Amino acid sequence: MIFKERVSRPKGVIEDGRLMELHLYPGNQCNRECDFCNVFGAPKGGYTEYTTEHLEATLRTVMLHEQGTVKFYGGEPTLNHDNVIWAIAHLRQQGFQGSIVIYSNGIQAERLLAILKSDSLSKTTASLNYSIATGDGAPQMPLSSLRKLEDYELENPGAIAIGHPDIVDSGRGVDPFSGEETRPKNTHRCPHCYPVLKTDGRFHACPFAVENPAPHFQLGQIQDSAETISQNFQAFLDWLDTVHEPYAQAQDLPACTVCWQHLEALPQPDFVATA
Ligand SMILES: C[S@@+](CC[C@H](N)C(=O)[O-])C[C@H]1O[C@@H](n2cnc3c(N)ncnc32)[C@H](O)[C@@H]1O
Ligand code: SF4
Ligand code: SF4
Repeated sequence: MIFKERVSRPKGVIEDGRLMELHLYPGNQCNRECDFCNVFGAPKGGYTEYTTEHLEATLRTVMLHEQGTVKFYGGEPTLNHDNVIWAIAHLRQQGFQGSIVIYSNGIQAERLLAILKSDSLSKTTASLNYSIATGDGAPQMPLSSLRKLEDYELENPGAIAIGHPDIVDSGRGVDPFSGEETRPKNTHRCPHCYPVLKTDGRFHACPFAVENPAPHFQLGQIQDSAETISQNFQAFLDWLDTVHEPYAQAQDLPACTVCWQHLEALPQPDFVATA
């Protein structure tokens, strides 16, 4: 496998009320239905288009300089590639200088490459689903797609990375997952991911738990100021360290299992009021 893992970046960085990274989530429509999928991805899943309003909220919330990163996931971004290409162009036209990452299963390789090539700053890269790229834990993508992606990576080193093999207990999660035996075990500590702006207009604290509607994850609405979202994200991070992790340790539970199955036992983060 020629794809390399992406180097992980600092967590929880907030500068002048802006987040270093933001995920964008349009719903869970997908051309696969992985038995471990944290978002319940499926062909019958939903897709709500990115609009100018979502992108303006993104531009208000994330760092606009080179350190900022916007990550598109889903669902499968290549199923609606025209909307993703439009969104990237809009972010660039409005001055976003940072990097962009597309999480994809790579099956629609040509569409994925069209997305990467569309970026006027050539700073959009892809991250492939480990299981679908390797065939470990899910049917592998067609070899014709894999070859196209490998060729592109060979010509453009660093353009296409491979995701982590870890599977966490969220969504369909670990229970039905056939490849679990060989994967790293879960820990009590949350990885402290950056939050998500969903195209339903809500900011959610966790990309893994994005389909979990618990109030513990609700950072605010699309109309809220960047300060409100950052403040609530900081409150969520503090809650992870002072409430969530001690509970996971005391109950000897994996971190994501606490979020998936035990949140009613925990007080909510100390959020400020939102729109
Ligand atoms: C939800 S998918 C969406 C994008 C695209 N469909 C894909 O599969 O890459 C984003 C990433 O989450 C990973 N993922 C899905 N379910 C997971 C789970 N239960 N634990 C950890 N990662 C998971 C996938 O392997 C993929 O790398
Ligand atoms: S992990 Fe990705 S490819 Fe698999 S069902 Fe979920 S969204 Fe689709
Ligand atoms: S522990 Fe909770 S907040 Fe952290 S990644 Fe898992 S589901 Fe998300």
